[in-house]
Amino acid sequence: MTFKPASWPRQLRSSEWFGGTSRDHIYHRSWMKNQGLPADLFDGRPVIGICNTWSQLTPCNAHLRDLAERVKHGIYEAGGLPLEFPVFSTGESALRPTAMLYRNLAAMDVEEAMRANPLDGVVLLAGCDKTTPALLMGAASTNLPSIVVSGGPMLNGWFRGERVGSGTALWQMSEDIKAGKMTQHDFLNAEQSMSRSPGSCNTMGTASTMASMAEALGMALSGNAAIPAVDSRRRVMAHLTGRRIVDMVKDDLKPSDVLTRSAFENAMRVNGAIGGSTNAVIHLLALAGRVGLDITLDDWDVQGREIPTIVNLMPSGKFLMEEFFYAGGLPVVIKALGDADKLHKDSLTVSGGSIWDEVKGVENWNEEVIHPLTAPLTKQGGIAVLKGNLAPNGAVLKPSAATESLLQHRGRAVVFEDIDDYKAKIDDEALDIDETCVMVLKNCGPRGYPGMAEVGNMGLPPKVLRKGITDMVRISDARMSGTAYGTVVLHTSPEAAVGGPLSIVRDGDMIELDVESRRLHLDISEEEMSKRLANWEPATKAPSSGYARLFHLHIEGADTGADFDFLKGCRGAEVPKDSH
Ligand code: FES
Repeated sequence: MTFKPASWPRQLRSSEWFGGTSRDHIYHRSWMKNQGLPADLFDGRPVIGICNTWSQLTPCNAHLRDLAERVKHGIYEAGGLPLEFPVFSTGESALRPTAMLYRNLAAMDVEEAMRANPLDGVVLLAGCDKTTPALLMGAASTNLPSIVVSGGPMLNGWFRGERVGSGTALWQMSEDIKAGKMTQHDFLNAEQSMSRSPGSCNTMGTASTMASMAEALGMALSGNAAIPAVDSRRRVMAHLTGRRIVDMVKDDLKPSDVLTRSAFENAMRVNGAIGGSTNAVIHLLALAGRVGLDITLDDWDVQGREIPTIVNLMPSGKFLMEEFFYAGGLPVVIKALGDADKLHKDSLTVSGGSIWDEVKGVENWNEEVIHPLTAPLTKQGGIAVLKGNLAPNGAVLKPSAATESLLQHRGRAVVFEDIDDYKAKIDDEALDIDETCVMVLKNCGPRGYPGMAEVGNMGLPPKVLRKGITDMVRISDARMSGTAYGTVVLHTSPEAAVGGPLSIVRDGDMIELDVESRRLHLDISEEEMSKRLANWEPATKAPSSGYARLFHLHIEGADTGADFDFLKGCRGAEVPKDSH
């Protein structure tokens, strides 16, 4: 940690817009004053953007206008001028074909809005899955002082005395219906109890994982990830974040100071300890690309390999985010890693101090929710990165959400050419499949779907479910919801739509999965593989226009974060002067 705060006072970026007497300065100030802003607010104080992903179409973020007001209190209090602005909001539950199609678009929106406006620093208001990485990626590419405040998770869902975890319960109940264990009537009743309050998914799904990643990277204040959306302490967190960004601007504490290799290694280890979402792999790879760090899939495997999962939350365990908060939240997890020498303790955070300073005094209030490292929930946390002739560039699997007995498995492939093929066949009683088979789904990668849908945890065939079987090995180039579970191999790269080996798997081929040795193998000869690959033809053409064309032409593989090739790197905050 070598950060040295800049001297203060000094002239800030916003002064180029507001700090003078020319026609253009008057133009910039005068129009702002139509909002009732007193003249002395343009006296050279830090101008702070509140970058808000509020949207009623993103229900997980629908309360963020209220939180933005709390951020404003803190900014005013610390002597800054807050100005809230909206950006594209990527709502997981409603956007079609998948919210991931728009993560890069949202990141581009954030970056351009930050650069083009008279801002000295930004508070990033995030919640639902893709909103956190999109904001972080955009902010990293401008490198203006930035800090995340999350919307926080929903309260626990409860149905007939049982916890209802967002997403996790939905997948489970829909399988129970197919297996004849639950009625449609009960399913509809359960719907009423799933989403009890404002906030994001209450499981350790992608939203909670990404909030945890923001905190572990040092881009949010300590304790930010777990506070429930409706708890008064969430508002306090927003208030304190508003205060803090003003000082970050004065100190000139930028994302590039915080987002170092050590910070990413900490985040990857924390992801293992919390049993975090596989989606974090893609988002952190993309974020690392924005700050020019060479973080690879192999880093994920190395950093997570010796980290057990200690957080007993769905989908890996049984509790929910509300209980995680009451147990002490993410600081307890980070402290446990530090105590075990598995943390870069001196990593800088947005607090201006080290990550260890933030957590060294915290206590674990419930060891059933946050296990000690010596008695983990599962020994194998982290993300297993598999390689082999079926995934030359890698594929991922989350051991803590998988069935132990399937982590080493050889089975006959049952192939679905795309998601429509899967839907057409899966309920067919004549489908030649049993629980020993390996389900293979193609053409659901970043370019194939497009956007890389969360369909990798494809449901099992009803005839297998009726036997009481709840898991089978599944392989695809898709993603999986962070709320989902199973022995599911994801992100297989290169994807089928660009001619990766997944594209040439046929019904009846034998596939070997060996998680311990990180191997994913298609058991055909090299000659046969070469012959099939030579005959491969792309199933889709580039769309002729629109965002879909931009996406198709520039999207990169999951193994490097599925960013657009032209968005990688940090472009800074320089912008040409006015053209009036
Ligand atoms: Fe928004 Fe899960 S759907 S956080």
